[in-house]
Amino acid sequence: DEGERRERIEAAKAELGDDVVVLGHNYQRREIVEHSDFVGDSYQLSKEAANADAKYVVFGGVTFMAESADIITDDDQSVVLPSMEASCPMAGMAEALQVDAAWEEITAAAPDSDIIPITYMNSYADLKAFCAEQGGLVCTSSNAADAFEWAFERGDKVLFLPDKHLGENTAYELGMEDAITEWDPWDPEGKDAAAAAEADIVLWDGYCQVHERFSAEHIADLRAERPDANVVVHPECRREVVEAADVVGSTATICETVANADPGEAWAIGTEIHLAKHLDRWHPDVEVLPLCGDACMDCNAMRQIDPNYLTWVLEELVAGRERNVVEVAPEEKELAQVALDRMLEV
Ligand code: 13P
Ligand code: SF4
Repeated sequence: DEGERRERIEAAKAELGDDVVVLGHNYQRREIVEHSDFVGDSYQLSKEAANADAKYVVFGGVTFMAESADIITDDDQSVVLPSMEASCPMAGMAEALQVDAAWEEITAAAPDSDIIPITYMNSYADLKAFCAEQGGLVCTSSNAADAFEWAFERGDKVLFLPDKHLGENTAYELGMEDAITEWDPWDPEGKDAAAAAEADIVLWDGYCQVHERFSAEHIADLRAERPDANVVVHPECRREVVEAADVVGSTATICETVANADPGEAWAIGTEIHLAKHLDRWHPDVEVLPLCGDACMDCNAMRQIDPNYLTWVLEELVAGRERNVVEVAPEEKELAQVALDRMLEV
């Protein structure tokens, strides 16, 4: 039962002492978050991983986050993911081979351009390595605009992967919305090299299947029912959703927004449902409303981190066995680290 499991997790953590640190993304379920030494957004967690001294970094999150932690930590530290099934579908939407092919077509169509690739953190290590190799970098939802500015100081065109919505929302933030074109690698007609050669920003046609389900109608309905409520959404949402919201930002920004709300204020949360539930628990003086009910906005990848698996990996570490270690291939690691370091410097 939950009580016994809680005791076993805490006992294993106590036994491991300073040898272990548990990191939990804001979308993890309550039973993971309450055992995490640090809870945050992707950017904060990558900084925590970079600063961690522990021998074992147990990551409550998805594969690309654990990979990034492995890249950033030292070679004698191990990153453990309680379930290897926790893969973000968006990260799988930009495969290195597809990106290589697109890169060739776009660079051939724009031979005089200096194109800088930027990949969202939600991508695999081989794509991060590719970006570093081509002079680009990684960004998260909390520093995408800074990453674009960094890129335009060094080149005249950006290829942004894989999240078209974050890319579009960032272009709007920078007043560059007229300079966008999309690249759809799955549709022969969606790969328009001439348009890519013209545009300053080329957006890969990837998306988050959780955030894409939020619509402007959800916000209109909420405002009709609760005119007093404010709306905060994640930048992985469609443009029209971001435009209809009061605040847009990373999961850390969403947390800060609710933490800074006045008592009695109502905030509707346009992101993964577990974060809305945490905010409701953490801030009983604020009325936290999930945008669009709580039926569908559940990230299946984050959900794979079951508290029973957390118990298992920790108890195995106590027994001297490292399970579910995430290791990035050495040939990708060094370059991917360059792309991540550029982000941390930005
Ligand atoms: P944050 O970087 O804002 O935590 O977002 C990560 C993510 O996967 C959002 O879907
Ligand atoms: Fe990936 Fe979306 Fe889940 Fe974030 S919420 S981990 S982008 S599927």
